[in-house]
Formats: sequence, structure tokens, C-alpha cells
Amino acid sequence: MSIEAHGGTLINRQLTGTKREKAVTNAETLKDLTINAWAISDLELIGIGGFSPLTGFLGQKDYERVVKETRLADGSVWSIPITLAVTKAQAETYSIGEEIALKGEDGIIYGILQLEEKYSYDKKLEAKNIYGTTDEAHPGVQKLYKRGEIYLGGPITLLNRPDHSEFEAFHMDPKETRALFTELGWKTIVGFQTRNPVHRAHEYIQKSALEVVDGLLLNPLVGETKSDDISAAVRMESYQVILEKYYPKDRTRLVIYPAAMRYAGPKEAILHAIVRKNYGCTHFIVGRDHAGVGDYYGTYEAQDFIRQFEDELGIQIFAFEHAFFCQACENMATAKTCPHDKENHVHLSGTKVREMLRNGEKPPKQFSRPEVAEVLIKGMQTN
Ligand code: ADX
Repeated sequence: MSIEAHGGTLINRQLTGTKREKAVTNAETLKDLTINAWAISDLELIGIGGFSPLTGFLGQKDYERVVKETRLADGSVWSIPITLAVTKAQAETYSIGEEIALKGEDGIIYGILQLEEKYSYDKKLEAKNIYGTTDEAHPGVQKLYKRGEIYLGGPITLLNRPDHSEFEAFHMDPKETRALFTELGWKTIVGFQTRNPVHRAHEYIQKSALEVVDGLLLNPLVGETKSDDISAAVRMESYQVILEKYYPKDRTRLVIYPAAMRYAGPKEAILHAIVRKNYGCTHFIVGRDHAGVGDYYGTYEAQDFIRQFEDELGIQIFAFEHAFFCQACENMATAKTCPHDKENHVHLSGTKVREMLRNGEKPPKQFSRPEVAEVLIKGMQTN
């Protein structure tokens, strides 16, 4: 028996077969709205159940309770408002009750929104409560401030999928990963979110978790990230290399998470855990500064925050302290397991690592597997 989806039912808002064909033909007669890649990824995740129990873009009651109390209107835990923003002028062209074709910039109709609500919202409050800051330099806040001032709410149906052909071999929906885990006989599965290459610290915490569960779902986010993050294509190559060489094949699977990164730290850690539960994971790793950016969040703020909701989330959190290689231990460790001073610990900032890679220099092997560094160096030079 798989773990229950969040809210009890794995949502499926995707149409297939003749139902889909009819809906596509009908969609061409509807008023349309052009949405960006971020909104398409939200639409897709709602459609395939990754965002269960959501069935659409949030209405006002859900939105306000999520922003103020980290809950949907029915009381279930939800931490990041999944919303569809338009300008006031655009909002005026649509009437409540009508269906809107959601089109990509490529002209493809990805889905339909049944418009139930139009409402204005307080950007500063959303910034403060979700991102913990109103600073425009924060990448999530910056995006929020640029959005239209009206949210459209209502259930959606998914008609077309964005193109995942680049990572086709690693593309699975929640219902497929659930079936896969059953087929593999995995009863306990730890999910790992990442937007970075897997370095030794990641490997250490993944493998520490793998010592006590049946399987690892390496579930890198491949949707929109900020421009100085390493591209998904290069990261995917690095994951394959490290899995091939250093991970047990029968206990690990690599599957993409096609979402956009919000950089909302503690609030995003909860979303990340819920989504992995929907993909069938029973455990989820939250390490240091999960989904963080700059100095906006404390090192363990995400862990402290998620702990308050862990019982209700129904997915077990593996919280790991900051991991490093200790020269004296000659091992990976954390402050929980290593008695030595900081001077013994190999520490490199993200900026420093990027600089080394750009210069074609491999970071020390205590920091990054050489095979991973090679892929990253090559990727940096061709990008
Ligand atoms: S994230 O934005 O997706 O969280 P990243 O890919 O760097 O960023 O991290 C993936 C996961 O590994 C997160 O749970 C993060 O907290 C954890 N993590 C990253 N580096 C370390 C480290 N040195 N020690 C402990 N946990 C870490």
C-alpha cells in the first residue's frame, strides 16, 4: 500500500483520449489567456496530482488562509499559494463562470481554467509571509512584484503537457512513481529535492537516509531557476554520472520534478515535502538552508518550521545538519558526528565553486566527485 496523497486522494485533472480531443476542439472557441512557463508548470503539477489536493488555481479563501496560516480553507496544511496572476485590464475581459483557454507563448493550449473568482491581493503581505522578506532583491519577491494585480481562481483541466523530451527517460508522473515503488517492492522511500549538482554533502545525507529506508528518489527540480543556478541539462548529466558510479542501481531512481523554484526557504520546504508525498515518498530530506537563497533564512529555519507540521503532513522528515568533509575524521560528517575544529572541515562557498568550475578547475574531491566536476566544467564552457 502506497502512502496516501496529501488530502487523501491523488488528484487527476488531465484529460486523455476522446475526452481530451473534444476539449481541445472546444478550447479553440474560448477566450484565451497567454501564460508563462512558470504558470504552465503549476498547471501541469495540479493536473498530474503533484500538487494534490489542489484541483485548480487558488480562490480567495484558500489564498488568504495559505498566506496567513499556512493552510487551505479546509484546514489542511499548504504553504505556497499556487495562483494565476493577470493585469486588471485582462481580468476585466473575463466573466465569472466562463472557461478560459490557457495558452503558452508557443500558441499551444495547455489547459482550461473554469473561472470562479477574480480577486486582488496584497503583494507586500504575500512577500513577507511567504518569502519572509519584502526585499525586491529576493528572486521570488522580484517575480511576485512583477505579476499582475489580480488573481484568477478556479479548477483547471490539463490538455497538453509541456515538452519534457529532453529528459524523457526520467519523466514520471506521481501515479507512475507510485506504481514503480510498488513494483520495486520499496515500502519506505526517501525523496530528495535539489536544484544543484549532487556534491559530497548531498551524497552523504542521501546515503545516510538510504541506510534506513528501502529506496531513494532523486527528484531534481528542472523548472525555472534563477539565472546563476546551473542549468537543468548540465545537472541531469551530472546526476546520471554520479548515480552510475557511486549509487546502488536497485535502490535509487532519478525522476525530474518539473516545477519552478521559488526560493521560499521554510515555506517551500513544506511544499517540497507535500509534493514528494504525492509522488509516493514516505520520507523527505530537509538539510541546511533548504530552498534558501542569499542570507534570507537561518540555516535550520526550514527544519524548525516544517517540524511544527510534520504530524499533519504524514511524510517523515529527515533533518540533516550541515554536512562537510573533515580532514581529521577522513570522512564526511556533521557537527553531530565530528569532534574537530572548523579548520579541519573542507568548506567552499557556491560562488567559489562556480568560479573554479568556470576556470576549468576541479574542486577538491572531498567536496565534489571528480566525475561530477568534469560534467560541470564541460557544461560551463559550452553554456
Ligand atoms: S535546494 O534549494 O533545492 O534546497 P540544494 O540543491 O543545494 O538546494 O539542496 C538540496 C537539499 O540538500 C536540501 O534539503 C538542502 O537543505 C540540503 N543540503 C545542501 N547542502 C547541504 C549540506 N552541506 N549539508 C546538509 N544539507 C545540505
